[in-house]
Amino acid sequence: MSDEAGLALIDLEPARTRFLEDCLAGLRAPTKTLPCKYFYDQRGSELFDAICELPEYYPTRTELQIMERHGDEMAGVLGDHCRVVEYGSGSSAKTRLLLDRLEKPSAYVPLDISRDHLLASAAALARDYPQLEIQPVCADFTQPFHLPKPTRTPRRTAVYFPGSTIGNFEPREAVRLLQVAHRTIGTDGMLLIGVDLVKDAAILERAYDDSAGVTADFNLNLLERMNAELDADFDLASFRHRATWRPGPSRIEMHLVSLRDQTVTLGGERIDFAGGESICTEHSHKYTLGSFAELGAEAGLLVEEVWMDPDRLFSVQALRAT
Ligand code: AVI
Repeated sequence: MSDEAGLALIDLEPARTRFLEDCLAGLRAPTKTLPCKYFYDQRGSELFDAICELPEYYPTRTELQIMERHGDEMAGVLGDHCRVVEYGSGSSAKTRLLLDRLEKPSAYVPLDISRDHLLASAAALARDYPQLEIQPVCADFTQPFHLPKPTRTPRRTAVYFPGSTIGNFEPREAVRLLQVAHRTIGTDGMLLIGVDLVKDAAILERAYDDSAGVTADFNLNLLERMNAELDADFDLASFRHRATWRPGPSRIEMHLVSLRDQTVTLGGERIDFAGGESICTEHSHKYTLGSFAELGAEAGLLVEEVWMDPDRLFSVQALRAT
């Protein structure tokens, strides 16, 4: 398929019908959960962009600072004629900081589950980097996929996975995802990944429960999305956003807490909530340098370089096959 910017899209977009099945499975369980990947409809993506601008949400601006300050060193580690495969094409600000510094990158392959978002950001990059071969793939990057064949053979392949999205996966799933990245880069490629670090609980909890209430709206939007797309009847005023740091599993947990006993209908099924019962909507794991190195090692990847901000809030790490 080719869009108006002349980009050849490889379309492996997953079926949309899973949304209802996944939500029902999560809400039927004794401890209710919803998958965080469903946050990102149009409004959810806009709210996430707004989160990234919040004074309390340090990850985005800190990662950008690290990319600005150390992008040249990262480009040096990746080397010339490198093909960059990006997991989750996100906002392209960080990608540009990398592409601008790479010597003669051979191709850029953005992977994203949302086709519209993927094509819009790929088209913008194609305009600004006319020499670069851009090969968008609409796919769930947690599943194995085939990379499109580039016109010019790259010297090596690098997977770029910014944004600390790895933290939203349970450690076992994170290892599986790193194994997929390992297969993509082969024996002489690199993984360049943003990893958020363990820090003071108050900083973490503020980042996920901001004073303007944007993260609360982002969390509650999941209920609104189920109302709109799955004919559910959640009363948004009867749920409250909560974000808690759990030092044991080393993660922020986001919940939606039911403010009263209530029954909600979803896909024709009745779901009961007791007052105070919650739905866990997201885990955001934070790592130490040691715990992330162990995770990488389980996937056969060795940390080669770590770049951090002076306050050691966030890291960008380069890993290669052991
Ligand atoms: C996308 N992901 C890395 C964000 C995070 O920090 O875990 C999602 C997020 N949830 C609430 N605020 C931001």
